[in-house]
Amino acid sequence: MTPMADADDALIARFDAPASALDSIARDLTRQMARGLVGEPSSLKMLQTFTRQPSGRERGRVVVVDWGGTKARAGLVELGGDGAVRMVAEEALTFSEADKRGAPEPVFDLIARAVGRVARAQGVAVAPLAFIYSYPARLERIDRAVALGSTKGWALKGLEGQDVAGLLAAALRRAGLERIRVAAVANDTVATLMLQSYRARGRDAGARPADVGLILGTGTNLAADLGPAGIRNLESGNFDGVAAVEIPYDAALDREVDEPPPGAQRFEKMVSGHYLGEILRRALLDLGPPWRGSSALATPFALDSAHLSRIAADRTAGLDDVDALLRGLGAASTAAERRGVRALGAAIARRAARLVGTALVGTLRFLDGELADRRTIAVDGSLWGGYPGFEALARESLVDLVGGERAARIVTAYVKDSTSAGAAVIAAVAATQRSE
Ligand code: BGC
Repeated sequence: MTPMADADDALIARFDAPASALDSIARDLTRQMARGLVGEPSSLKMLQTFTRQPSGRERGRVVVVDWGGTKARAGLVELGGDGAVRMVAEEALTFSEADKRGAPEPVFDLIARAVGRVARAQGVAVAPLAFIYSYPARLERIDRAVALGSTKGWALKGLEGQDVAGLLAAALRRAGLERIRVAAVANDTVATLMLQSYRARGRDAGARPADVGLILGTGTNLAADLGPAGIRNLESGNFDGVAAVEIPYDAALDREVDEPPPGAQRFEKMVSGHYLGEILRRALLDLGPPWRGSSALATPFALDSAHLSRIAADRTAGLDDVDALLRGLGAASTAAERRGVRALGAAIARRAARLVGTALVGTLRFLDGELADRRTIAVDGSLWGGYPGFEALARESLVDLVGGERAARIVTAYVKDSTSAGAAVIAAVAATQRSE
C-alpha cells in the first residue's frame, strides 16, 4: 500500500460511528426528549405544534408558503378529501446572501409578492394560507410562531422574538392581499408527517397515521406524535449529545461557522446537506496536494451535498465525473486520488446516515421503549432522496441498534416534495379545529 493510501485509510476510519457509540447517543436523545418536554434543560426544544393528525377527508384549496432554505415557494394546493392532493400552481424564489443577513421585511415582501402572482394567476382573492417556516419557532397558537435563533446560514436582523406569521400577514397587507389570511404556521417536519398520515387515512380510514416526520435536506429535524403530549417539533438538529462520534473536523466546523453560532445545531452540523460538503472540503485540504492547490476548494462551503451525491453516483472505472467535478473546482487529480475522495465522501455520508438512524431509534424508544409496534417514519429532503443508498445506510444503523426483527417494524416512507402539500393538510385540520 502506498503512504497516500495509508493516510486516506486513517482519515476515513475517523468517520467510523461504531454501534456502541451510537447506542449511547440514542439513549441520550431519549433522555433529552423527556427533559425537553417538561421544560428541564435540554438541547431538544420539543416545541408544540397546535395541530393533530388528519382524518384523510380534509378538502379545499389552500394558498401555501414554504420557506426553509436557500429557496422559498408560494403555491396553491387542492385537497381532494380522499387522501388526494394536487399542486395547482407553484412559484419558487431564491434568495441572495445579502437577503439572508438583512432585515426581515424585504424577505417577507418577496414572499408576499410571489403569493400575489400565484393567487392572481389562479383567480384566488380570498383563501386561507398555510405557512411552513422551517426554522426554530415557538408556536403559541396554530397561527402564531415566535422565531427562535436561525439556522442554515440565515441571520436576519432582529427576527428573533418576532411572530413570523404576523410578519407574513403584514407583508401580505402591504402587497394588497389582506383577504389571504395566514391560518396556520408549521415546521416542515410536521408537514411531512401530516401529509403521510392524510394520504394513508384517505385511502383507508383505519390506517395508522405516521409517527414521525423526518427532514434530511439542507437542514435536519424530527417531529413526532407523542400521543397525549401531541405532535411535537423536536428541533433535533440542535441535539448536542454527539461527543461519542465527534472528531476534530466537527469541533473546528462548529467553532468557525458563525451562523448558527458555536454550540448550536451540533447534530445538524454532522448530518445535514448544508454541512456534509464542507466537512469533505476540510478533510480534503488535510490530505495535501492536489487539493491545497485549488483556490475553489480553499473557499468555505465550496462543496455541497449535491457534489457528494454526484461523487457517490459516479460508477465509471476512472471516476470520470468526479474528475470533471474536481476540474471545475480547479483541481487536477489522478484516478487513485479520486478514489480517495470518493471513499472519504462515502465515509462522511455513511456517518451522517448512521447518526440519522440513531436519532430515529432514540425518538421511537421514547414512544415505545420496547419498539414492539410497527412505526412509520415519513421522510423528505434532498439528502435522503438524492444521495445514492442513503436509506440503506441509515437502516444499517437501525439493525445495529435494535436488531433485525425490531428494525423491520420501523417503516420509512419517502414523501417527496411534501412541504406544500402537507401545509395544506395542516390548514384544513386547523379549519376543522376552529369550527369545533
Ligand atoms: C431547522 C428546522 C427544520 C430543518 C429542516 C433546521 O435547520 O432548524 O426547523 O425543520 O432545518 O428543514
